[in-house]
Amino acid sequence: MSRLPPITELDESSSGSGFFLCARKEIRTDRSGAELIALVLQDKTGQVPAKIFERVDTLRHEFEAGEFVKIDGRGNRHHQRLELVLDSIRRVNPGQDRVDGFREEDCIPCAPRAVDEMWRELEARVARAGNRWIRQLLESVMREHGERLRIWPAAVTVHHAYRGGLLEHVLSLAEAGSALASLYGADPDLLLAGAILHDIGKLEELSYDGVTSYSRDGNLLGHITIGVMIVRKAAAAIDGFPPELRARLEHLVVSHHGERELGSPVEPMTAEAFILSAIDDLDARLYQFRRHVQTDSGEGEFTSYHPRLGRVLLKPSGR
Ligand SMILES: [Fe+2]
Ligand SMILES: [Fe+2]
Repeated sequence: MSRLPPITELDESSSGSGFFLCARKEIRTDRSGAELIALVLQDKTGQVPAKIFERVDTLRHEFEAGEFVKIDGRGNRHHQRLELVLDSIRRVNPGQDRVDGFREEDCIPCAPRAVDEMWRELEARVARAGNRWIRQLLESVMREHGERLRIWPAAVTVHHAYRGGLLEHVLSLAEAGSALASLYGADPDLLLAGAILHDIGKLEELSYDGVTSYSRDGNLLGHITIGVMIVRKAAAAIDGFPPELRARLEHLVVSHHGERELGSPVEPMTAEAFILSAIDDLDARLYQFRRHVQTDSGEGEFTSYHPRLGRVLLKPSGR
């Protein structure tokens, strides 16, 4: 049987077998009362919905959400949306399926740059920070949370939602922050700290094992609250950490959504906090812009409507 192409290249004519990560699995009932299995499958290029209509009682026990699966299926357009209709599915047996070309890394979306390279760049930025308290605090946070901070996604779906996405987002903010600090006379070390710490709560807000979802603490507390607790704990562990600096750092975390309506309990009150919330928003929006422009398959000058940005977008002219 032929092999299915990567998810971003699937169309109605695709059929064959393939290896994916099962990101979601739900048993549903259709209008006639028959049960079906509705899934979301994922590979490193993206996600696609999939459905199983036949042999539901047998196949539902063959795999769980969060597992790698081998499927046979074909492309189908349903309400304008491409989906896969599956004939069979089973969990991957790594020993046997590797011979057939199964590789975990092909099923997990990841940042375009290598994680190790990004991590070294971040360490070098921290090592150059002039304020020794900030340097010490950042080093301890990176030591304690490094394992997750290296690979965590920045969000479930909106922006940088893949392996290494949070680190990629942090590095963009570190670079933008350092440029804007000198332009506006803000403190570059505080901005570097803001870049690294503002979303640190996402390490506990989101759970991630190749598939991203909200954790219990994530739903109940959110990443701003979790983040400020992480910063306070790290500052408390450093003997003599200046209380005013601790408050300025915590302010960066709690104000980074910019407005109360957007989830920040206080709004920016320092130059660094204004800059951080602006570049955080900009980085997330431009990520969505680039992705939408790249993946839009229409012929026109403008993309389709982007619901979150609330507008259509002009595609680059190619010049
Ligand atoms: Fe955030
Ligand atoms: Fe952010």
